[in-house]
Amino acid sequence: MQTLRYPNGDTMPMIGLGTWKSAPGEVYEAVKAAIALGYRHIDCALIYGNETEIGRALSESLQSGVVTRDELWITSKLWNDSHAPKDVEAGLKQTLTDLQLDYLDLYLMHWPVAIKKGEGFPLTKEKLIGLEELPIATTWQAMESLVQAGLTRHIGVSNFSIAKLRSLLDTATIRPVMNQVELHPYLQQTELLEFAQAQNVFLTGYSPLGSSDRPASLKAKDEPVLLEDPTIVEIADRHQATPAQVLIRWAMQRGTAVIPKSVNPARIEQNLAAAQLTLTDEDMAAIAALDRHRRYVDGSIWVVEDGPYTLANLWDE
Ligand code: A2P
Repeated sequence: MQTLRYPNGDTMPMIGLGTWKSAPGEVYEAVKAAIALGYRHIDCALIYGNETEIGRALSESLQSGVVTRDELWITSKLWNDSHAPKDVEAGLKQTLTDLQLDYLDLYLMHWPVAIKKGEGFPLTKEKLIGLEELPIATTWQAMESLVQAGLTRHIGVSNFSIAKLRSLLDTATIRPVMNQVELHPYLQQTELLEFAQAQNVFLTGYSPLGSSDRPASLKAKDEPVLLEDPTIVEIADRHQATPAQVLIRWAMQRGTAVIPKSVNPARIEQNLAAAQLTLTDEDMAAIAALDRHRRYVDGSIWVVEDGPYTLANLWDE
């Protein structure tokens, strides 16, 4: 499996198993199957509500000797209600307890959005904290301590714009090594990718298959279906591959990591086999032409009346 190599020599497999939307009852089998099939990178988050089941699968896979801890790459994410410095370490420790691990490979700030401790949906402006009041740099300092304490090998961010990444890079003592963002042919984020590459920050693409299993409340009615895009289907047919494999391989050939979610063993296997495919320059050019700045996860869940977050200040667009 191709990997991304960090400055300290650590390597992260480019294909990881996504676990957002994987139901607690299904994710245990999915993670066990994925590891047995050769996945070595699992992408998690506290807010996905399934880290306990993932932890059971990891622990059993480690105990049975299918894999060793140092062969695995485990990512998780700090939830928005734990941005206050006093809450950051507890956030990671909860994840470590749930995942039954004593360290993570990568811990990400899930969103550049802060919520008051313990508050959840439906959001109101009273539940949100603006970034002027609780700056990203303050949360980041607390995340840096997690590396120093040996609780995570690397730290990074998620859903960060170029502007937010730039200002964090300006002030960070330990640099963010990763920005996990939505990436697929309809949202290619080429400028962000070029900026990140110039700064030695890797990108991981989420929703690489279009996340059509998102809850209806997060979906637009006119949503284009990435897996049915005629250009993607045509390329897949020509390579005797599937549309999902084309989307995954496209991400790898752009130098990004990619975390397709599946709870179906046949699709989990199919997605990993995308690493064997090679897209031609013509294929890559045809896919480049599909870009349409279409976010499936547009961040509007953070936007409430008179609240501190707007789509404009979230994405800096
Ligand atoms: P399932 O979990 O039943 O396999 P994303 O990674 O963009 O969030 O997309 C996840 C969605 O894509 C899920 O509905 C998942 O369903 C589906 N999916 C995952 N792998 C494939 C595949 N190889 N072909 C078609 N659909 C897939």
